[in-house]
Order: sequence, then C-alpha cells, then structure tokens
Amino acid sequence: MGFYVLAHMKPYSPGKPIWEVQRELGIEKVTKLASNENPLGPSPLALTAIQSYLSDIHRYPDADTVDLRAAIGNKWQFKVLVTNGADELITLISETFLELGDEIIVPSPTFSEYKFGANLMGARVVHVPLCKDYSYDVDDILAAVTGQTKLIYICSPNNPTGTYMKKQDLHQLMDNIGRSARADWGAP
Ligand SMILES: Cc1ncc(COP(=O)(O)O)c(C=O)c1O
Repeated sequence: MGFYVLAHMKPYSPGKPIWEVQRELGIEKVTKLASNENPLGPSPLALTAIQSYLSDIHRYPDADTVDLRAAIGNKWQFKVLVTNGADELITLISETFLELGDEIIVPSPTFSEYKFGANLMGARVVHVPLCKDYSYDVDDILAAVTGQTKLIYICSPNNPTGTYMKKQDLHQLMDNIGRSARADWGAP
C-alpha cells in the first residue's frame, strides 16, 4: 500500500502570503481573503498567555491538554479534542476511521485536506459536485452513500465557495444517512 499512497500524494499548496504578492506586484496595501486567516490579528489575551509560557518552551507541553480541555468543556458542556489546527484533526479522523477500500464523500470543490487524509489511508474519494449556486444538494450526497462510506465531509462555510449548509439540510442529511447505507447493503 506504501507505493499506492505515495503515488497519490500531492504537496499542500498554501495561499500566497501577503509579502509575496507585495513583492510580485510592487504594491503596499494587500488584503488577503484566502486561507481563513484572521485579518484582525491575534487576541491580546492570547499574546499575553503565550508570552507568559515562553520561559518553559524547553519542556514538552502537556500532550493531553488536560487544563485546556477542562476549561473549554466546563464552559460549553461538551467533550473536547484539542489538535494543532484543523489539519491535524482531519488527519487523525482519517487515520482512525479509514482503511484501504473505504470511501469518503466530499461535496466539491472543497478544502484539499479531506482528500489528502483519504489518500494517506488508501481510501477512495467520492466527489459530489455542489449546485450551480454552490449550495449543497443533500439528495445527491445521500445518493453517493454506499456500504463503504466511512466519512462525509461538510465544510461549512465551505472553502473556497463560502457557502454554508442550512440547518434543515443538515438534519435531512443526518436523518437519512443510515437509510442510504442500509439500502446499499440490501437491508430493509
Ligand atoms: C476548511 C478548512 N479546514 C481546515 C483548514 C486548516 O486549518 P488549520 O490552520 O487550523 O489547520 C483550513 C485552512 O484554510 C480550511 O480552509
């Protein structure tokens, strides 16, 4: 499987940084709308917290993020998984749930890392095109579900179209996924 995986790997292509556009076009004022970066900059509270830990960076951090998970969990009353960005989460989800021959469904075009995670594990990517107005077609997504489907990625708001999935569509999807999979298995 190693060669198969490597043959399908493509390096991540990040959005152009502001300095590169400034240098290329010889302009000063550039507003970057790509890459989901926060144009307002980091929170001053985050900066203070990071600075207060700088003298400890020679130690490994708490791998279980005990205090952070407890603080977030207590505030919002749900269980928390802390990762280094969403990319690590996508890789972890792929490694946990996907095996050779499995399928993932991605409404397309969308963020490239879902496909990367599937390729990593030898899973097949099933693309379901977005509608002409870039909205999601829940019936098309459901029709793509098979007995091999392990993950369905709904990127909302979607990168790169910015469209989101409406609550009623999400309910329709969640209520019918099991039925679509059972139909593919030939079960009642
Ligand atoms: C939809 C989506 N998910 C995940 C990421 C990556 O997020 P992170 O920087 O938190 O790893 C991006 C980055 O552009 C994104 O657009």
